[in-house]
Amino acid sequence: MAEGRKNGLYSGISEELSTLMRSGWADTERHDLAPSEQAPYAAARRAALSARFPGERLVIPSGNLKVRSNDDTYPFRAYSGYVHMSGDQARDGAVVLEPRADGGHDAYCYQLPRDSRDDNEFWTGPTAELWMGRRRSLAESERVLGLPCRDVRTAAEDLAASSVPTRVVRGVDPALEAAVTTDAERDAELEEALSDLRAVKDAWEIGELRKAVDATVRGFTDVVGELSKAVASSERWIEGTFFRRARLEGNAVGYGTICAAGDHATIMHWTDNDGPVRPGDLLLLDAGVEARSLYTADVTRTLPIDGTFTPVQRTVYDAVYAAQEAGFAAVKPGAAYRDFHEACQRHLAAQLVEWGFIEGPAERAYELGLQRRFTMAGTGHMLGLDVHDCAQARTEEYVDAVLEPGMVLTVEPGLYFQRDDLTVPEEWRGIGVRIEDDLLVTADGHENLSGGLPRSADEVEAWMGRHAG
Ligand code: GLY
Ligand code: MN
Ligand code: MN
Repeated sequence: MAEGRKNGLYSGISEELSTLMRSGWADTERHDLAPSEQAPYAAARRAALSARFPGERLVIPSGNLKVRSNDDTYPFRAYSGYVHMSGDQARDGAVVLEPRADGGHDAYCYQLPRDSRDDNEFWTGPTAELWMGRRRSLAESERVLGLPCRDVRTAAEDLAASSVPTRVVRGVDPALEAAVTTDAERDAELEEALSDLRAVKDAWEIGELRKAVDATVRGFTDVVGELSKAVASSERWIEGTFFRRARLEGNAVGYGTICAAGDHATIMHWTDNDGPVRPGDLLLLDAGVEARSLYTADVTRTLPIDGTFTPVQRTVYDAVYAAQEAGFAAVKPGAAYRDFHEACQRHLAAQLVEWGFIEGPAERAYELGLQRRFTMAGTGHMLGLDVHDCAQARTEEYVDAVLEPGMVLTVEPGLYFQRDDLTVPEEWRGIGVRIEDDLLVTADGHENLSGGLPRSADEVEAWMGRHAG
């Protein structure tokens, strides 16, 4: 918006221009909108949250645009707790659960309404629709979300005017947070509850996770088809190839894509992605499409760039594959959440002892955690709206919990031999292997949602042979 900006080229708005701009617009209100598919699921999630906090007002904001630099902002991504409780992704919104005398709550949603054409805000204001795109009207939002909707521009005043005991999710919307008087510990309990309630996915969420994973499988296949171009370019070609699929089929990537060729595969969070892609090396690709609904996949495959593992690469790969198989066997209802992690780590500890890289016996090495020099990370996490979903959940509801049907988690063992690690033979140095899949816990075990991608070394080579470009 040029108006009023330092160094803008227009010094003002004439009366005539103002009048011209404010007239001659059609009524575009939509009366045909139906509740979203997600609306009844969001209502059930709000009911579960309501049951935990009788008599208290709960405020769950969506968040605001954040400045990237000067007047450029990051693409908006709503707070996951808001998305879960509303089925909405709009910025500057908030779900409010207002307590009733019977212990339940009435829910409503604050939304940024459409701009009025009665003043110049719609083409000069900070949220001008003419510049940023049409928003839903409050009436349209009510129909889509199945929730009463109010104008967010009066939210701070409304909330400040009431003395109802209130909790707010902190760190999402500073203005709404400042409008309410709350207690930090009690606010943290609200955030915990919002995380707890995401542990078991409903049928709609599982459908969205399937979409995210299926698109991710296509993204990995795209990358294999473009590996020769990556060899002529850099890891950036791989990042761009996967990102194209993510933007076409989904919202974006669910986290910074890790395109780690050669030694970079030993760096857990390599996202610079500016290195060379060389035949003879491995490519560790950790990437996930975030669906339009914001549910994300999180998948890793480690691929021989020229299509064939060297003997030492295959030895490492087979060990990680066997560890993942051991982890998979522990993913079933009634198993402890920690079981798959422990199964993977035990397997890798024994393997590292057998190779002579850590001192045995294997059980002692595992108990002391010696394998961690080479396995580095935990072996998985919950997956959903956030790649590390349910992160604020109570420990007893997450790492100390028992698996239930509807939980979705990653199993992602790895071995990483740093280039400067003098404790392993030279030809092992610079090798990093991770295999990561997304598992849905079912009534009688699990389903590997990312099973559309090959996992064993032989399957990987055959698949690359079919799709190599
Ligand atoms: N891509 C992040 C993770 O695997 O946890
Ligand atoms: Mn992961
Ligand atoms: Mn990952």
